[in-house]
Amino acid sequence: MNNSTLKRCTFAIISHPDAGKTTMTEKLLWFGRVIRKTGMVKSKHGNFAKSDWMEIEKERGISISSSVMSFPYRERAMHLLDTPGHKDFSEDTYRTLTAVESVLMMIDSAKGVEEQTIKLMEVSRMRDTPIVTFMNKFDRDTMDPFELIDNLESILSIQCVPMTWPIGSGVEFKGVYDLRDKKIRVFKEDQDPESPFIIDAEDLNSEEVVNYIGEGLRDKLEADIEMVSELIPPLDPEEFLAGIQTPVFFGSALNNFGVKETLDIISELSPGPKAREAKKEPFEADSPDCSIEPDHKKFTGFVFKIQANMDKKHRDRVAFLRVCSGVFQRNQKIHHVRTGKDIKISSPLIFQAQDREIAEEAYAGDIIGLHDSGKYHIGDTFTEGEKLQFTGIPNFAPEIFRKVTLKDPLKGKQLDKGLKQLSEEGTVQCFTRHTSPEKILGAVGSLQFEVVKHRLEDEYGVRGEYEGFPFVGIRWLKFKNDHQKSQFISINGHNIAYDGKNRPCFCVRSEWDLKLVQEKNPEVEFFKNSDFR
Ligand code: G4P
Repeated sequence: MNNSTLKRCTFAIISHPDAGKTTMTEKLLWFGRVIRKTGMVKSKHGNFAKSDWMEIEKERGISISSSVMSFPYRERAMHLLDTPGHKDFSEDTYRTLTAVESVLMMIDSAKGVEEQTIKLMEVSRMRDTPIVTFMNKFDRDTMDPFELIDNLESILSIQCVPMTWPIGSGVEFKGVYDLRDKKIRVFKEDQDPESPFIIDAEDLNSEEVVNYIGEGLRDKLEADIEMVSELIPPLDPEEFLAGIQTPVFFGSALNNFGVKETLDIISELSPGPKAREAKKEPFEADSPDCSIEPDHKKFTGFVFKIQANMDKKHRDRVAFLRVCSGVFQRNQKIHHVRTGKDIKISSPLIFQAQDREIAEEAYAGDIIGLHDSGKYHIGDTFTEGEKLQFTGIPNFAPEIFRKVTLKDPLKGKQLDKGLKQLSEEGTVQCFTRHTSPEKILGAVGSLQFEVVKHRLEDEYGVRGEYEGFPFVGIRWLKFKNDHQKSQFISINGHNIAYDGKNRPCFCVRSEWDLKLVQEKNPEVEFFKNSDFR
């Protein structure tokens, strides 16, 4: 698995809660031979534990179980990065998408595109990440497939190219017609997902076809296929790689139907590690840009996630480092660009289920875990000595805000220290208002505040009250010149706050409010993430 010859496929699943991401993950891990039995992963009940991953967790005493799941598939080394949804939806979910080369989008076919999918799609768009789509839950009543495609195309502005076509849905679901080989993959509960029952459907009037799907569904299938061939262009791998076209599959993750074809196309078409944009010293907005190709000889990588342990007995944190180029070797001294220090990494973690070893080496596209006592930050670049800083790992506009009030006013210093550390780690964002020294915490998901509360009490001895704040978002601002900046800030001072890097942000009280300010200030640019230049 840790073999340099396998081409890496680093991907993530994006979906709205309940669309079936956890169910799909389990089926993918089953095909990857990471788990031996399906039916063990239950997101909401936390039973993922029964897989081999639980043992790794126990051994390492840390909670890493689902952050990175690696398995070989065909000629690829697959790395599936977890994108937490539900109540643990957080900025981590967005940041993970900066570390992948492709995504699998799961849609609940009864509902179509939902809110969280739109947000995750916006982030995937930042790097034009290629997307494979799975229309899930066809064993239940769904929207009409054309309606679903229309829904995706109009809301997400992506061109859908169906690879398979559903025959009925719900109790009438008979399977899918594969538009590529003109065969019907028959839907049967409890069938072996590796050898599904397939019938030749070159001739839709054949007795076998009619026997299986019935006259009514046969007529509809014939009409649908004709419409698809007239209206929808074939899949163009270049357009897929540019994030313009998405291959679409229909099926049921729960019944492991349609999953293999989806995994096959991910492994076939997803790009390997791509070049990454970086800046050269002095790492300012106007510093020279450079691009690091994956075959760049020297090792480079960046931290996209830091996971702290909530368990008091095991205080260590893990920084997840995405290797961008070269070869990382255990015991190698690597250069931590932000601090200028060279650090020997003697026990890097690699996230694979089979051999549970410390990583001896890692290649572009791999993810390694570094034990972190608090010195690493999100976005930190590591090199073999080169002075460069990867870009494209921004902060994302928080959507929920809290004001912290100390229960013990003498703990102000500890609060500042704790918040500084937690925001550097990427646990939460901390803003200071323009009109007062008040600190406001901003997060994408409410779990982030629970983590902050727990860790401030546990690690810094700070107990606070957390009060809601009437903002619904923030926007980073870009001005044409200093005069424009000071004028804007003096007029809108009550809605200005500064982020951890002292960049001015506009605090949004309502979308209407934001629209008004944008109309009044057409020359000022407003950004939903901090990675603007
Ligand atoms: P998520 O991680 O995206 O939140 O979704 P998850 O896989 O947990 O699936 C959400 C619910 O949808 C689960 O049911 C799951 O069993 C169901 N589901 C997923 N894929 C399919 C499918 O192809 N067909 C059908 N019919 N259901 C599907 P639940 O009742 O909420 O949970 P549970 O009690 O079954 O665990």
